[in-house]
Amino acid sequence: MKNNRVVIVGTGFVGMSYAYALLNQGVVEELVLIDLNKEKAEGEAMDLNHGLAFAPRKMSIKAGDYSDCKDASLVVITAGVNQKPGETRIDLLNRNAKIIQTVTSNIMKSGFDGIILVASNPVDILTYVAWKESKLPSSRVLGSGTSLDTARLRYEISKYIHIDSRNIHAYIMGEHGDSEFVCWSKAYVGAKPMLDVIESMEEINFEDLDHIYQSVRDAAQEIIQKKNATYYGIGMALVRITQAIFNNENRIMPISAYNDGVYDIDKDLYIGLPAVLNRDGVHHVVNLKLSEDEQIKLQKSAKLLKDSLNQMNL
Ligand code: LAC
Repeated sequence: MKNNRVVIVGTGFVGMSYAYALLNQGVVEELVLIDLNKEKAEGEAMDLNHGLAFAPRKMSIKAGDYSDCKDASLVVITAGVNQKPGETRIDLLNRNAKIIQTVTSNIMKSGFDGIILVASNPVDILTYVAWKESKLPSSRVLGSGTSLDTARLRYEISKYIHIDSRNIHAYIMGEHGDSEFVCWSKAYVGAKPMLDVIESMEEINFEDLDHIYQSVRDAAQEIIQKKNATYYGIGMALVRITQAIFNNENRIMPISAYNDGVYDIDKDLYIGLPAVLNRDGVHHVVNLKLSEDEQIKLQKSAKLLKDSLNQMNL
């Protein structure tokens, strides 16, 4: 870890929700905002700086350019168009792939040699695009993946069983999209397997699991229908990933990680898997023994992503 500098590329709702959460949680010392619209980046930096007097730690915040990436430890890419009501994340693919290629090329021209975190959608494919363009080791390019979906899952479960969502250990895996799935076989409440919890509690039963999964899978579309975009949840997920990296936590999080064979699915792709995160990026992917049904779902999700990558001739 060179220093405590983060560069955000894209000062839209997601980028600025992430920036605002970083400021309020006091995670980094230096924050640089890059946007094609320089005025916007300057205005956002000014606005954040006026909150510094209330922040938990001092921070240097400015609008900058790609030369500021050179000495950054982490560059977070949030640039791109977001889903419109009814659009899937895959619909954004070709528009955003070109943007990510250009952004990543500009980052690397600065002499950047840190970690790239991608949040733009479709995140699994765009993380692959960024990795290819950057030529960095796959451990130093990751995506937000199913980290937000997993937070949604824990929230939905906690509503049923009235246990703090931070005591619910369960993962959404696969594509950050409609083919994602819940790894129920490895879900725990505290140290108790979820399946035992269901048998011992009246508040939740097996029929509720499908409803919980559908609520998680469809959450983004529902929010987009109501407010035209999602950004607070993903902004906080990005902060949690940033903390795991900057604090060298060896924290396990479900992110978009490169699969080079840990799971018996298509290799050479990025997909939502539990991974250990620290100052070097992805230390390793955690290999969970999936049930037969979960293995089939992961393979289906991987194939969907692989087919999309193949269509792009990357
Ligand atoms: C969502 C966006 C970040 O799931 O894809 O809200």
